[in-house]
Amino acid sequence: MLVLILFSLLAASLADDYVINTKRFPKDFQFGTASAAYQIEGGWDADGKGENIWDRSVHLYPEKNSYATGDIACDSYHKWQEDVDLLVGMGVNSYRFSIAWSRVLPTGLVNSSNPAGIAYYKNLIAALKKNNIEPLVTMHHWDLPTYLEDLGGFTNSQIQDWFVDYARFLFENFGDDVKNWITFNEPKQTCEHGYGTGALAPNIYSPGVKDYQCAHNLIIAHGKAYRMYEKEFKAKQNGRITMVIDSNWFGPGSDSEADIEAAERDMLFTYGWFGHPINFGDYPEIMKIRIANRSALEGFASSRLPSFSDEEKQIINGTADFMCVNIYTSSLVKAIPEPDIIPNGPGRDLDVGVQEYQPDDWEPTVTSWFKVVPWGARKIVKWISDTYNHPEIMVTENGYHDNGTVIHDMDTRGRYHKLYLSNLLDAIYEDGVNLTGYMAWALTDDFEWQYGYNIQLGFYQVNFTDPDRPRTPKDSASYYRKVVTTRCLVDDDQCVD
Ligand code: NOJ
Repeated sequence: MLVLILFSLLAASLADDYVINTKRFPKDFQFGTASAAYQIEGGWDADGKGENIWDRSVHLYPEKNSYATGDIACDSYHKWQEDVDLLVGMGVNSYRFSIAWSRVLPTGLVNSSNPAGIAYYKNLIAALKKNNIEPLVTMHHWDLPTYLEDLGGFTNSQIQDWFVDYARFLFENFGDDVKNWITFNEPKQTCEHGYGTGALAPNIYSPGVKDYQCAHNLIIAHGKAYRMYEKEFKAKQNGRITMVIDSNWFGPGSDSEADIEAAERDMLFTYGWFGHPINFGDYPEIMKIRIANRSALEGFASSRLPSFSDEEKQIINGTADFMCVNIYTSSLVKAIPEPDIIPNGPGRDLDVGVQEYQPDDWEPTVTSWFKVVPWGARKIVKWISDTYNHPEIMVTENGYHDNGTVIHDMDTRGRYHKLYLSNLLDAIYEDGVNLTGYMAWALTDDFEWQYGYNIQLGFYQVNFTDPDRPRTPKDSASYYRKVVTTRCLVDDDQCVD
């Protein structure tokens, strides 16, 4: 044993002051890349596709979206075969992508089905399967059909049924080939920024009120879709369903009990906002208590956080077949005095009531909120494992932001994935976390929402000014290929089995 430990230490290679884990990822580990329909497809009104809230936002409010659109994006609607070839060349065994709701159901309702949209995804899925690449399919990655938004979108409780109907339609059409389904991507962003701060489509400003209503309906929609699958499809299709939740790792700013409590509270308000309902059937207690108290002081007749009925609790309880997390960065958290009650000004941040910060000496990226914190990856998957009774966990996104011009990105993007993956190996082998997959964001550069094309994360650069949208490999592409084919982060002869 001692010899083994000494050998591992000797074999360990150093990247900066990090010791890279030289163990191999488990044999059945899922390595892939992730994408979302609106960010890559383009073809925004092609072949009968309906309008979605991002089409509308980029056309009506260009100033909110860096004056860019996803009208063409990477043109993957036409170049999907080339993208599959890139995936094959990279050697991945999984690919996470999303279905554009309004491409298959132009209004969002099931009476509006679009055969060309269905054919597009059927072809994509068939090509992936033919190449032994497992599809991991997101049903909603932020692009709600505008027809449904005009009826209230996620603030209308009817969204629960619209979503169940859409999910059934997907299972009927694609469920024989898709075995891993994600209902929603990053619901915190959908709700906090779609209906709270208004930074993302549908750009509604109602912090501390509509963001919670959105999340509430979304969680119940997820639960109802899960139960419907269980009842109508599970026996014959035998797939799995989950939700993708994003969160920073929030660590305490000091050893003080108050900071430790504040950091845990932030985790519960962020990951736990969705993780608790789908695992335990209700919001974290601290959320319920704090939001109810603050709502009362603000003069609301009831809590701004809606509550689940007993029946709803039963529906949502235990509706994740595995847990997912999108990790990018971390923050430190300090306890602060209770934030003042602001007349007519509730907000989620005030409800959390802590101070988040990223120390100046943490390595920056081009994005203000995003510092490189590899050890946070290990912490967050360990937190999910400990909090939710050691479930299977997948990292469904992680990637490095730059301005898209850097082709020789081994010292930045390549190193970033290496350091994060090394910490995830530590989580698997040192902490016993049941981590089964890693979907890097992204195969290609893409439309990055409110940043337009100003930040990029791809292994392949896309020339967005060329009508052909040619893809050029960056250095990180060959590093990732090496990792997925050897399941190891360092040179093969230094790997420990
Ligand atoms: C998370 C989102 O799910 C994805 O759509 C986005 O582009 C990445 N973050 C990149 O930051």
